[in-house]
Amino acid sequence: MFRDVSSCNTYNYGDAPYWDARYEAERGGAFDWYQRYSSLRPFVRKYVPISARVLMVGCGNALMSEDMVKDGYKDVMNIDISSVAIDLMRRKYEDIPQLKYMQMDVRDMSLFPDESFDSVIDKGTLDSLMCGTDAAISAARMLGEVSRLLKPGGTFMLVTYGDPTVRMLHVNGPAYSWKIELYVIPRPDFKRPAGSSSMKSYLEPVPTTEKGLLPPGFVLEDPDCHFIYVCKKLDESEISNVPTYPLTADIL
Ligand SMILES: C[S@@+](CC[C@H](N)C(=O)[O-])C[C@H]1O[C@@H](n2cnc3c(N)ncnc32)[C@H](O)[C@@H]1O
Repeated sequence: MFRDVSSCNTYNYGDAPYWDARYEAERGGAFDWYQRYSSLRPFVRKYVPISARVLMVGCGNALMSEDMVKDGYKDVMNIDISSVAIDLMRRKYEDIPQLKYMQMDVRDMSLFPDESFDSVIDKGTLDSLMCGTDAAISAARMLGEVSRLLKPGGTFMLVTYGDPTVRMLHVNGPAYSWKIELYVIPRPDFKRPAGSSSMKSYLEPVPTTEKGLLPPGFVLEDPDCHFIYVCKKLDESEISNVPTYPLTADIL
């Protein structure tokens, strides 16, 4: 269930050939990185309306989109840089019209017009780009495309292992007009230490500092937890009221 792409040095997670070879080897299999839909459902149902046109970026061979359709979602477009994954998924779901698959690089989704989607979901794809060459440029291209494709009022949901010190400076760039809420969820196999009396609810957004970071003294119950950044694209009337975080040397 849990695999970690934080060990970037070991694998070429930013390369299409790496993913093609991997999906070739896993042919017929299905795997969800980090979390399954069942644990993400409360967040998805809260922020993604059932009628939303959804874009799943870097879908791989995950069951997430299938599970969303089983849960009532009607329009989930899936893209991935791996043609092997896309061929496989397209064949697998040829009888499910709610699921569509296209081979595409998340850094250039120019086949889609501006403001085509109500929601964009990423689970592990930005993390993969962060392991590739020119990571910061790739991240900026991806996030620029996501922002372009979202309708005003739409939501980008990023599920990642990256904590705010390493993700906020990309996600909260000045080019994007979105308001961010942050959630922290434990790995699926995390067990609270015996005797722990914590009553933390993972369904509540965590407080962040003015700079978008976790407050001093904030304790991560699971040190290898996952983070969900819910980025709501603001409309014109909301933009002037948003604070921007001074994300520079303070964070690095
Ligand atoms: C860590 S896997 C996550 C797969 C799936 N989202 C999940 O949750 O199980 C990262 C996925 O991103 C895809 N990917 C990597 N770079 C990409 C890019 N530039 N454009 C589109 N997809 C990319 C890979 O092929 C892989 O399927």
